[in-house]
Amino acid sequence: MKVLIIGSGGREHALAWQCANFSEVTHVFVAPGNAGCALEKKISNVKINSEDIPALIEFAKYESIDITIVGPEAPLVMGIVDDFCQQGLAIFGPSKQASQLEGSKAFCKDFLQRNNIPTAFYKVFTETEKATNYVKEKGTPIVIKADGLAAGKGVIIASTLQEATDAIEDMLEGNRFGDAGSRVVIEEFLTGEEASFIVMVDGVNILPMATSQDHKARDNEDKGPNTGGMGAYSPAPCVTDAIYDQVMDGVIRKTVDAMQSEGMPYTGFLYAGLMINKKGEIKVLEYNCRFGDPETQPIMMRLKSNLAQLCLSASQGTLDTQSAEWDDRTALGVVMAAKGYPNSYKKGEKIELPQEPLDSKIFHAGTIENQGNILSNGGRVLCVTSLGYDIKDSQKKAYDLIKNVKWQTPYYRTDIGFKGVST
Ligand code: AMP
Ligand code: GLY
Repeated sequence: MKVLIIGSGGREHALAWQCANFSEVTHVFVAPGNAGCALEKKISNVKINSEDIPALIEFAKYESIDITIVGPEAPLVMGIVDDFCQQGLAIFGPSKQASQLEGSKAFCKDFLQRNNIPTAFYKVFTETEKATNYVKEKGTPIVIKADGLAAGKGVIIASTLQEATDAIEDMLEGNRFGDAGSRVVIEEFLTGEEASFIVMVDGVNILPMATSQDHKARDNEDKGPNTGGMGAYSPAPCVTDAIYDQVMDGVIRKTVDAMQSEGMPYTGFLYAGLMINKKGEIKVLEYNCRFGDPETQPIMMRLKSNLAQLCLSASQGTLDTQSAEWDDRTALGVVMAAKGYPNSYKKGEKIELPQEPLDSKIFHAGTIENQGNILSNGGRVLCVTSLGYDIKDSQKKAYDLIKNVKWQTPYYRTDIGFKGVST
């Protein structure tokens, strides 16, 4: 079985690594991949950008790829799945239309509301004055979101009217997010604990992945600016059995059924970002049409079944014949980022990596290889991930390994998993 993974982050390194662990998989290509992918046995990078759909199609045909797995949202929202399917190529991901669940926050909120799936109250605006009046009516804190894809940066939690007004003006008039910000969603500020609930879907059947939690804020104690994610662990202790059932029945099943009955059946990874309050009530914060990054890294450390086979079955509509087996241990990943991320940061710093112990893995994200050296080449650079018998144990292992990474100015949180440890 030959596999093509699209993307270049830590998520894609972890997906490729998981697939390559199985003898049925003869080779994994990653387009464009990173320095870490290239170091793995049976994995090689392909110099094709993840949004160059015609070139990816040509490559998949040339190499007779059995299954393509898409990492990031951008090619999905562009319609890569529709284009591959038209060429008779097997690919796992949602169609262009179904990807709107992530591609447009207004689309997602309207979908949730008309299907009675719990979410924060909201309204959609294109005019500054009307949007500002709504904030005055509802009061602060309140949440302002750019409608389209904004690489995790389009959400502002405004604690004053001034902050809300600035965010609205910035998005609607300042063109800060381009087309993505030509509409804004203004929604209720929710409190509670966040969890990532990720499942595989084949249009009808659902196969849940292990639960997880990530840390989106850059700094310790969940402070500082929002990022793509600074670390994650699996399982998530806040997702109790009762909450799990509530999410599966009241959120995931309802979503999959409604997508089908509305004529846009959902195939792919479906990622519900949830807020769970003290009373155990859940609300959907957002949907992503892909796996999470960095959630993928700890989840893939725990997945014992062949991911490539699961994705192939799902693309054929036979996910009901599959099951996923999980390592009982906890996995925890700490992101090592370039200093300054998510704002401006330096690239090109040399990194020397230690030997990985058996129960740990250093997944690469923004790295390149240059004359035998590994250099930083992005905001999130590595995700040091370890398995342990509980969160504390996996946390200790990951941080012990980080100490042996030689790199002049890395930035990382020192408290990944703290919420899980205290519960
Ligand atoms: P999103 O891209 O919609 O997931 O938002 C990014 C992050 O902003 C989430 O992970 C939350 O931490 C925060 N957030 C988004 N919406 C809300 C909300 N309605 N209330 C509180 N926090 C939110
Ligand atoms: N870790 C959050 C995301 O992938 O969107």
